[in-house]
Amino acid sequence: MSATLVFKGAIIHSESLGSLEIQDSATLLVVDGRISALYRSSDELPATAIPADAQVHQIPPGEFLIPGFVDTHNHAPQWPMRGLGQGLHILDWLEQVTFPFEARFADAAYAQRTYEQMVEDFLRQGITTASYYSSRHADATKVLAETCAKKGQRAFVGKCNMDRNAPDYLRDTTAAASLGETEQCINHIRGIPGCEKENEKALVKPVITPRFAICCTSELLEGLGKMLKEDSSLAMQTHFNEAQQEIDFTRVLFPEEASKSEADLYEKYGLLNRRSVLAHCTIMTDYDKERLRQLECGVAHCPIANMTVGGGFMVAPVRDFLQRGIKVGLGTDSGGGWASQMLMVIRQTMIASNAQEVMSKGQDKALSLEEAFYLATLGGARVLCLDDQIGSFEVGKQFDAVWVATTTGLHSAMTPREEDDSLRTSFEKYIMTGDDRNVAHVYVQGRRVAGSRAE
Ligand code: GUN
Ligand code: FE
Repeated sequence: MSATLVFKGAIIHSESLGSLEIQDSATLLVVDGRISALYRSSDELPATAIPADAQVHQIPPGEFLIPGFVDTHNHAPQWPMRGLGQGLHILDWLEQVTFPFEARFADAAYAQRTYEQMVEDFLRQGITTASYYSSRHADATKVLAETCAKKGQRAFVGKCNMDRNAPDYLRDTTAAASLGETEQCINHIRGIPGCEKENEKALVKPVITPRFAICCTSELLEGLGKMLKEDSSLAMQTHFNEAQQEIDFTRVLFPEEASKSEADLYEKYGLLNRRSVLAHCTIMTDYDKERLRQLECGVAHCPIANMTVGGGFMVAPVRDFLQRGIKVGLGTDSGGGWASQMLMVIRQTMIASNAQEVMSKGQDKALSLEEAFYLATLGGARVLCLDDQIGSFEVGKQFDAVWVATTTGLHSAMTPREEDDSLRTSFEKYIMTGDDRNVAHVYVQGRRVAGSRAE
């Protein structure tokens, strides 16, 4: 049995959207990757709490632990093309920049090299969980899942389903082929040691991934819906009401089903339930929002992509979602969003929410730093239905964490720390101006998987 890990020092985590716990001096125990106890400064630490063979880590002043970031929407094959094609509207961007690039992943050796670097990059940024769209290639999808498992990143991995409205060199040849390869990928992922279907704590899990209705025939959507119906443990992810250009074309392709709402369309094919993760959700009617709430779908808010390739300047009504009780997490949308850093997404979330406050004439109040941080951690965990396992330091959860160093000598972009900074001030400086150099250590299930500091 592995020894107990003990962390003594400051911890910061969200208890809920409106409540951030800041503990200057906590003692956190981890056994077999799981948080077995958390003593706050007000708690008496029992003399026998820490076993003699425990590995004790003392977190120095100015440093603290936060839960690992949860990226609810990420296109793995777009990681090497982030930032390209700015200013294009979504369908033009897909056709001119993205599809030709994703085609490279027909080469599994290229996928292997690229995904190794990609997973390392996201871990270095403190993204301990990601929900990935792979390319449409089964082999590259398997490589992606294996790479996450090997490097220790918690992930959902889905073969991207797309059997129309994409170039012949990229798209699935038929709906049947697309469904068959999806099944193969699911079985492959569940065959990775530790990732079995029965294993609730599996590090890597499959996710059904129709790219969006525009790229899928009715037959394909129907087949994917059937898979979800037959296996209620499967998650689903797709793009939803991202931009006007996309909504208009969806209505042309599905004049009846999508005439009122994309929710009706996806629901018709059995694709919407509490495990559905819908990316973007920028142009939303009250009807759309109510359907998402009733069906318990989660929103992957991607504020960087929404203001770049989304079609100009799209702002999702995040405050309204939250007030209605709709789950919301954040997504890098690697590719459409140019950043692999969740800190950038948090900052853009706050900027977008300021814009939304103005655009809604004050009705949708801007998000606070605490609220944006919640979305990047516990909120994302809820969207992925993993909040019983990750997202905060509640006892019983897995230890997925980032050890943040804010001390001088790091040469990071962070606003310099002053001697008299409170923990709250150090946290604010890190969130608003820090970078991966402040990420000293990253843990997933208690295993150290990355970090800027020597072990
Ligand atoms: N809609 C369909 N595919 C994509 C994609 O790759 N990125 C974004 N942002 N939107 C999409
Ligand atoms: Fe996307």
